[in-house]
Amino acid sequence: MQVERVQGIASTFRDNIPEAYIRSEQEQPALTTVHGLDPGVQVIDMSDPDQEKVHGLIINASQEWGMFQIINHGIPSEVIIKLQNVGKEFFELPQEEKEVYAKPPGSKEGYGTFLQKEMEGKKGWVDHLFHKIWPPSSINYQFWPKNPPSYREANEDYAKHLNRVADKLLKTLSLGLGLKEHELKEAMGGENLQYLLKINYYPPCPRPDLALGVVAHTDMSSLTILVPNDVQGLQASRDGKWYGVKYIPNALVIHIGDQLEILSNGKYKSVLHRTTVNKEKARMSWPVFLEPPFRFTIGPHPKLVNGENPAKYTSKKFDDYCYCKLNKIPQ
Ligand code: OGA
Ligand code: NI
Repeated sequence: MQVERVQGIASTFRDNIPEAYIRSEQEQPALTTVHGLDPGVQVIDMSDPDQEKVHGLIINASQEWGMFQIINHGIPSEVIIKLQNVGKEFFELPQEEKEVYAKPPGSKEGYGTFLQKEMEGKKGWVDHLFHKIWPPSSINYQFWPKNPPSYREANEDYAKHLNRVADKLLKTLSLGLGLKEHELKEAMGGENLQYLLKINYYPPCPRPDLALGVVAHTDMSSLTILVPNDVQGLQASRDGKWYGVKYIPNALVIHIGDQLEILSNGKYKSVLHRTTVNKEKARMSWPVFLEPPFRFTIGPHPKLVNGENPAKYTSKKFDDYCYCKLNKIPQ
């Protein structure tokens, strides 16, 4: 059966949206977003000569918000622009060309639309494409669009650059826990750490005040590194309030995910976030989820647990289909 795509629905509705996309009043962005104040999500200049300061800011932001943006991270802007252009071209292809990449049953990779059963059966205003981009040996090119022809080169190029940025961040986060530089990545699967790219495509929405793109969630990844397009929409939650995350050209938005909260025994916070949509413009984003290999055991790092600091989470095997994620132990 053909799954209904949000892109198709968006092209047939002008002034209203189907009931299934209207969120409850507790969720509607028009009623729940804090206006005005700077959200406080730190923007960190990675090229600052004072690298001690950079490390401090990253560690602090990971504890306070679980989210920060980085600029001057070393990925050339042309590489990011190419990644964005080929992704946009894919979503602008005729529907039947996109459906060639539709997710096979049970597959995480491929073109799709979540049939969200969560939260009162409401749906998110978004379609997506998922595929692995790193390590090269893990890639299944069956899920990489052949059209546009430069899709592969653009994505491979981005993955190589991203790997360097990720390594740098993981080293800093490892030191921030009092571990040696390499120990955190090792505890996430080392060189088998999987990089899963998702391209989110949020079509223009006639009622952005009532709908949400991606509903409130924390990422199941260890770390998520996201490139947005220039349409504002990402929001982060703090103390029960929703704040817009400022769009900064060429910045990468870093999210601490559940696995890192667990590994750090709660020192780093998996950030609660969601996205809003836009009336006139399509919003797009390219999060890359850094995930432990399937069935890899994740728990608080043994070096962080002792008599005075008991484990706050149970250890478990990383499993895509486990949604009871954090397994917090009542203290
Ligand atoms: C996600 C997500 C944010 C965005 O896909 O997990 O949180 O800005 N996306 O699109
Ligand atoms: Ni997310």
